[in-house]
This record gives sequence, C-alpha cells and structure tokens, in this order.
Amino acid sequence: MVIAIVLFWALLGLGVFFVAMRGGPRGARAALHTESAIGQRVVILGVAVLVAFGVAVPTLVLASNGEHKAGVAVGGLHLSASEQRGRDLFARSCAVCHTLAAVKAVGRIGPNLDVRVGADIATASGRRALVLNAISEGRARGLGQMPAQLYQGREAEEVAEFVAAVAGH
Ligand code: HEC
Repeated sequence: MVIAIVLFWALLGLGVFFVAMRGGPRGARAALHTESAIGQRVVILGVAVLVAFGVAVPTLVLASNGEHKAGVAVGGLHLSASEQRGRDLFARSCAVCHTLAAVKAVGRIGPNLDVRVGADIATASGRRALVLNAISEGRARGLGQMPAQLYQGREAEEVAEFVAAVAGH
C-alpha cells in the first residue's frame, strides 16, 4: 500500500524530470498542448492514471479499515455473534432499569447486574440460568417490578449469554 503510493509519486517525479530535461517548461507545455495524437494520448493516459489512483487509494484505505469493533467488549472480551445481538437487545429493553458497565447502562430501578449477576454468581452457566429465569418469569419480590417475557426463545437466550459473559467486567 505505502509502497504503491511512494512508487506512484516517484514515477510522477521522474516523468516531470524527463519532461523538463527534454525542453524545459516551455518544451513541457508545448508537449502538453500539442495537437499530435501521441501528445494527446499521453495527456489522457496521465489523467486516467491520476483518476485511477484517486479511486484506488481511498478504496484500499477504506477496505483495510473495514474491520469494525462490534465484537470487542469491556476487559478485552470478544463477543460471539449471538452475544452481540444480546447486547443490542439488552440496550433496548433492559438498560433502562439495570446498571451494566459493559453497555454503560446506569438504570437504578432493578439491581446492578455487575453485582447481582457478575459478582454474586460464580459460574457462567449459573449466570446464564439466573438471567434467563428473570426474563421468563419476571420479578416482584418487593424490590420493584420486572415484567416477565420481555424476550422469549432465542432472543432471551442471546440476552442471557451476553449478560453472563460481561457482567462484572
Ligand atoms: C421496568 C424495569 C426493569 C426492566 C425493563 C428489566 N428489569 Fe430486571 N429487574 C428489575 C427489578 C425491579 C428487579 C428486582 C425485582 C425483585 O427482586 O423484586 C430485577 C431483577 C433482575 C435480575 C435479578 C434476578 C434475581 O433473581 O436476583 C436480573 C438477572 C434481571 N433483572 C435481568 C433483566 C434483563 C436481562 C432485562 C431485559 C430483558 C431486565 N432485567 C429488564 C427491573 C427491570
């Protein structure tokens, strides 16, 4: 990539140099303004090369920057595709009531999940099970209300996987 750019400018510089050597600026101008078919072809080729680089360089840069950061979570964790969907679902329906650092959620209606899920429960499967159970049954133990079935099936599992993976991080 860098080599291509350097090469391009080096060739351009050499071209200018040779044109200048051949007849100085006047010669160069004469060559550019020439009506001869070869002169025109050279100019057209030059423009084509410039346009091609104008498209190719930004395209290559954009393409190599394409690797996005959607899978990266707090603490250097890497999220699977379903955990990433769980993150979006959590942000949509759970973050209003719960604190969870991984999504910068600061809800205070329900318990802080970094503590209640992350710190209190040792195993990933235990965390997952608690979250799944809270989602399917809801909660009303006198600490406030959590509606049941905010998510069902696959979506509930994705949220549970996500929370189990990131809570406490
Ligand atoms: C309307 C507010 C509200 C929303 C929305 C909400 N919760 Fe809750 N959540 C609560 C409250 C309040 C409690 C505690 C209730 C209690 O124990 O009496 C709770 C408890 C929990 C618990 C702990 C359960 C336990 O047994 O200690 C988990 C885990 C949980 N919620 C996860 C979620 C997830 C995941 C979502 C999104 C699908 C969610 N909550 C959406 C209010 C909410």
